[in-house]
Amino acid sequence: MPPTIRPVRDEELTSWFAAFGTAFYIWASDPEASAAARRPSMDLERTIGAFEDDAIVGTFRTFATKLTLPGGARVDASAVSAVSVRPTHRRRGILRQLIADDVRRSVQRGDVASVLIAAEWPIYGRFGYGPATWQATWTLRTREAALMVEPVGSVEIIDPKRAREILPELYDRCAANQPGEIGRTLARWDNELGLMEIPGRPAWRGAVVLHRNAAGEPDGFARFHGDEHWVDMSPDHVLLLDDLHGVTLEAELDLWRHLAQMDLTATIRTEHPRRPMEPLKWVLSNPRAVQVSGHSDFLWVRIFDVAAFLGARTYAQDGTIVLDVTDELGGTKGPAAGRYRLDVRDGAGTCERTEAAPDLTIDVRSLSAASLGGTRLADATRSQPHQEHRTGALAAADALLLTADPPWCSTWF
Ligand SMILES: CC(C)(COP(=O)(O)OP(=O)(O)OC[C@H]1O[C@@H](n2cnc3c(N)ncnc32)[C@H](O)[C@@H]1OP(=O)(O)O)[C@@H](O)C(=O)NCCC(=O)NCCS
Repeated sequence: MPPTIRPVRDEELTSWFAAFGTAFYIWASDPEASAAARRPSMDLERTIGAFEDDAIVGTFRTFATKLTLPGGARVDASAVSAVSVRPTHRRRGILRQLIADDVRRSVQRGDVASVLIAAEWPIYGRFGYGPATWQATWTLRTREAALMVEPVGSVEIIDPKRAREILPELYDRCAANQPGEIGRTLARWDNELGLMEIPGRPAWRGAVVLHRNAAGEPDGFARFHGDEHWVDMSPDHVLLLDDLHGVTLEAELDLWRHLAQMDLTATIRTEHPRRPMEPLKWVLSNPRAVQVSGHSDFLWVRIFDVAAFLGARTYAQDGTIVLDVTDELGGTKGPAAGRYRLDVRDGAGTCERTEAAPDLTIDVRSLSAASLGGTRLADATRSQPHQEHRTGALAAADALLLTADPPWCSTWF
């Protein structure tokens, strides 16, 4: 008998955390304490268990978020986390069942897309997800370069309680300007600012600086902690950067300038996903003082509503293309399956279902990968089924979807 998939009840949350800890054993901690600490911020309707009789053998959780598209539209997305199957029950199709259940719930809610961070690359493509944003780690040897930007506005040091009042709204303004970024929950801010502890994980202890524009309005922030090093009585500290965001590029660069000038510091290393290419590099007096490593995929997207998604984003060039999107889930048609006509005029898209002859057939996973403009459709389709019905259609769709400034998501979940 396959397990029953359903939301957990209040009294089952401890067992749910215990089940999660069997697969994510590195985070296994006191499930009772986890349930008590996390319950206030958890929507039980979106906290799903795979039940074998009364035992939970699989976990799956989502939360509502906004995904910023190229051009700044923010669509309703469902962020997936806590995906696990008991090691004793793996490879029996339980994840497949959990995903099928989630797709049904997401479509019912009207979510435009689902997003997740894949623990392992090979898991999610088969379910229609594709890698849509990319990330890297930046290491700046601060004594080897100056930032060739003039200070703009001012920088103020604030304590975590004050940061909790300002950062959620400020971050939201930054995220609204950044394609690929998602909204952050208030509970997450409590945790990120060390105001709430998650059992089994060390509490954050660090510093926050706020950037204000020339008019004195907050327009950026950085959150960081440190690693102390002394070499022969000389300070060689590492500043570990947890977050750095600006509503404007000027604010962002000014925050980098401020941090790079911190006394005692030899190195800044980013602890959260940064863009693989940053404007920072181009304002350093010595760009070789920065090393970019660990280039990798980050946010995976799975489109549910193709017309809503493609119709909400903007494009760098005009054009028209008819896409035949294949979407197969467990032997049935997924929600993205169908034929769509995308018309782009003056950079704005309109997209609707059509009966017109297709220019290109592609799988939903390839379209999802290219949907934010950071993965080339030409790359996403290299090892995936696709068919051109008009010569040059793949190159045309590729050029249409690509954006000059790649999307970026900095938010772990
Ligand atoms: C990843 C995990 C949830 C998969 O659960 P599962 O119930 O074993 O998956 P299923 O049996 O439903 O597998 C569905 C398909 O995905 C494949 N698959 C599942 N996990 C895979 C993995 N880690 N790597 C490669 N393929 C995987 C299966 O082989 C199967 O392939 P098929 O379509 O050819 O039949 C489970 O292995 C797990 O808990 N891993 C540890 C925690 C983790 O990584 N969670 C993901 C967080 S993002």
